[in-house]
Order: sequence, then C-alpha cells, then structure tokens
Amino acid sequence: MEGLKVTDLKKTYGSGQRTVKALDGVSFEIAAGELTVILGPSGSGKSTLLNILGGMDSADGGSALVFGNEITRYSAKQLVAYRRREIGFVFQFYNLMPNLTARENVAIARCAGSMEESDALKKVGLLERSNNFPSQLSGGEQQRVAIARAIVKKPPLLLCDEPTGALDSATGRKIVALLRELKEEYGTTVIVVTHNAKLATVADRVITLSDGKIASDTVNTAPVKAGDVTW
Ligand SMILES: Nc1ncnc2c1ncn2[C@@H]1O[C@H](COP(=O)(O)OP(=O)(O)OP(=O)(O)O)[C@@H](O)[C@H]1O
Ligand SMILES: [Mg+2]
Repeated sequence: MEGLKVTDLKKTYGSGQRTVKALDGVSFEIAAGELTVILGPSGSGKSTLLNILGGMDSADGGSALVFGNEITRYSAKQLVAYRRREIGFVFQFYNLMPNLTARENVAIARCAGSMEESDALKKVGLLERSNNFPSQLSGGEQQRVAIARAIVKKPPLLLCDEPTGALDSATGRKIVALLRELKEEYGTTVIVVTHNAKLATVADRVITLSDGKIASDTVNTAPVKAGDVTW
C-alpha cells in the first residue's frame, strides 16, 4: 500500500504586505503504517500541514498524495468523503460535545464498517466511564474519549494535533503508547504533532519543521514499542 508523498507543499496566509508563509515548500514521504512525530516551535507550520493532510484546509501549491490520491485537487464534495472515510483527527483540546456522554461522543463518529463504540472505549481503557459526561472526566480521560472517537471508524490515517499538549507527562506517554498500539494492531498510519521531543522515542520517523520548512527528517531504527513505554 502506498503511504504519503508530499512535494513542495506551500501555504501562505494573509494578503498584501502582511503575509505569512506557513508552509514554504515542504517535501517528505511517509510509508503506510508508519508512526510519524512532527516537532517544531510554535508557528512553524505543524497545524497547517496537518489540517491540509486532513482535508480541512487548502494548499496554495505543491502536491499531497495520500495513499496514491492527490488530495489537493479534491472538490469540496470529495473532501467531505475523504474526511469521513479516511481521516481520524484528534484535536488539542478534545472538542467533545459537552451534552453527550463518552459513549455518545464516540457513537456519532461511527459509519459503515466501524467498530462498536464500546470496543473503541475499551481500547482507550474507558469502557466503565461510558455513561459519564466530559465534565465528569479528567483531561487525560477526555483526550482518550477523543481518541476513541477518532479511531472508532478504523481510519487508515490518524492525525493528532498536540494530543498531549494539555496533559501531564505521564498521561502524555500513555496517549502516545496507545497511538503506537493502534499502529501495531491495525496498521494505521499515524501522524502526531507535538512540542514534546521526548515523545519522538516511540516514532518510526521524526520530522522537524522550522519556519514552514523541513529542518530534519530522520528514521528511528529502534522505536520504543507500545508495551515498553514506561510511566
Ligand atoms: N488562519 C490563519 N490566518 C493567518 N495566519 C495563520 C492562520 N493559521 C496559521 N497562521 C500562521 O501561520 C503560521 C503557522 O501556523 P501553525 O498554526 O501551522 O503553526 P504551529 O506550528 O501549529 O504552531 P503551534 O505550535 O503554536 O500550534 C503562524 O505564523 C501562524 O500565525
Ligand atoms: Mg499548532
């Protein structure tokens, strides 16, 4: 199966003299089933890149092949189908519906071929909290519900924007171990954006962005396996 191939991807925000080159010719390749960590300082273009890959923002130039499909040329309608069928997205601040229980938050993301919402909640270790509302859960637990919601449809591409940003380091390590487990179990291609360079130890590939450009792209020959993450 083909993975991701991004070539000379460009995105500029603003107009006239007040423009920001959020992505200034970004190129990289990711194999299917790889777990990639994207590092880089604030404003380096990480979210911009993830949003374009997730079909939530458009590029100004370049190419992004996802499993062999050129997503930058998708119509609005094709993007809806792409987001629904192929993308799981985990946001930094969970974005759970406050008036729905954990189970209901996961259930709304299901579609044909999905796993049961109870299986997704079991996977993130929260089955017994199914009937709790987000306000009754800790930050780490809410993030795990958000991950259950993103994985319930078994997306081939799971994109996580700072999934551990609001969490303490022990909870953050658990979240990353869980993402690694998904990759190991389902062959999911996972991309995780983070500020935390320590999380790179579980990655197969580590890409660093700086000022909208790739600063480094390295393969981790001995990533820490999910079961070996210590906390
Ligand atoms: N919608 C927008 N309108 C204008 N400028 C934007 C917009 N989105 C992002 N930018 C700018 O593009 C650059 C890259 O932003 P981006 O959000 O991709 O950075 P980031 O690496 O995710 O940063 P952080 O670590 O703070 O989340 C920044 O200079 C940002 O201000
Ligand atoms: Mg960001």
